[in-house]
Amino acid sequence: MRAFAIETYGEPEVLKAYDLPIPEIQEDEVLIEVENTGVSPYDWHVRRGEQEGKIDYPMPLILGWDVSGVVRKIGSKVTNVTEGMPVVATQKLNKNGGYAEFIAVNQNTVVKKPESLSFEEAATIPINGLTVYQALIKYGKLSHGDKVLIHGGAGAVGIFGIQLAKSKGAYVATTASSRNHEFLKGIGADIVIDYNTENFEDEVKDFDIVLDTQAGDTLERSYYVLRKGGRLISIRGQVDKEKAKNKGIEAYFTWTELNREDLIEVVNLYGYGEIKAYFDSIFPLTLVKEAHRFSELGHARGKIVLNNKI
Ligand SMILES: NC(=O)c1ccc[n+]([C@@H]2O[C@H](COP(=O)([O-])OP(=O)(O)OC[C@H]3O[C@@H](n4cnc5c(N)ncnc54)[C@H](OP(=O)(O)O)[C@@H]3O)[C@@H](O)[C@H]2O)c1
Repeated sequence: MRAFAIETYGEPEVLKAYDLPIPEIQEDEVLIEVENTGVSPYDWHVRRGEQEGKIDYPMPLILGWDVSGVVRKIGSKVTNVTEGMPVVATQKLNKNGGYAEFIAVNQNTVVKKPESLSFEEAATIPINGLTVYQALIKYGKLSHGDKVLIHGGAGAVGIFGIQLAKSKGAYVATTASSRNHEFLKGIGADIVIDYNTENFEDEVKDFDIVLDTQAGDTLERSYYVLRKGGRLISIRGQVDKEKAKNKGIEAYFTWTELNREDLIEVVNLYGYGEIKAYFDSIFPLTLVKEAHRFSELGHARGKIVLNNKI
């Protein structure tokens, strides 16, 4: 099968076309013919070698851990999906991803694609959906009327975070450059703060939850906008537990947990609920290097998606 993979770490040029065998499936796995793959910042963090030594990757390594497609084969113990079923799936991060014609995934990381979603929309969902859902609902204990600050509102994470928080009855502030303000108000944000010209601390005080996607100075300043008992959740940088304790808040760094129940919940929110999928652009799989370069600029509005068929 055609696949784009890396054998060394580095610039986008290390992504090369390979002719690799179609993956063999285990008894609890599913073979998916991939329609679309979501490109995440994580993909190019791995490509640059930033996870080297932390995760044991097979080489050549196929990147891209969010996919949509059609089930072509199931293992003998698979009960969750059937052959021919359109699905949305994610993959364990130490396994080959979706920049390929086919991917083999465990049945616990694959769910039926709702008919209301296109394959492109479905490929935007899994990892960001799981991460944001777990950050806001499980760690953030989000409830009706909470005041929530979401950094990086116009990114793939932020767009889901704003919609999820609003759907639960929260008051939502977010940060973005000015070109995204109208769009973010359109998806429900109550206040949009221009991180280039304003300090979010001037607008946001005594909030219940902060979801940080930026780390560094943004994370550092976020401790000061929470009320006592508030929750700071970063999905980008390590938190200072001691400082959080001194301020009477909870602070967590969270990492995506591949949990099928949560995946079903999130996919259903998109398929049958009020959440809408937004993608910035679709690149042919053959232009995956360009997709990486664009993602690395850090200003995509929503997800970047690959079309694996071209
Ligand atoms: N821990 C985990 O398990 C996990 C899971 C998923 C994602 N993440 C991480 O979460 C982060 C966000 O992911 P993503 O998919 O949303 O990324 P993304 O889609 O690439 O984010 C792009 C967006 O970031 C905004 N942005 C850039 N600099 C900003 C700043 N200083 N303040 C506020 N917004 C800024 C841009 O808006 P403007 O154009 O308006 O600047 C752009 O719309 C990434 O670092 C990713 O690696 C972690």
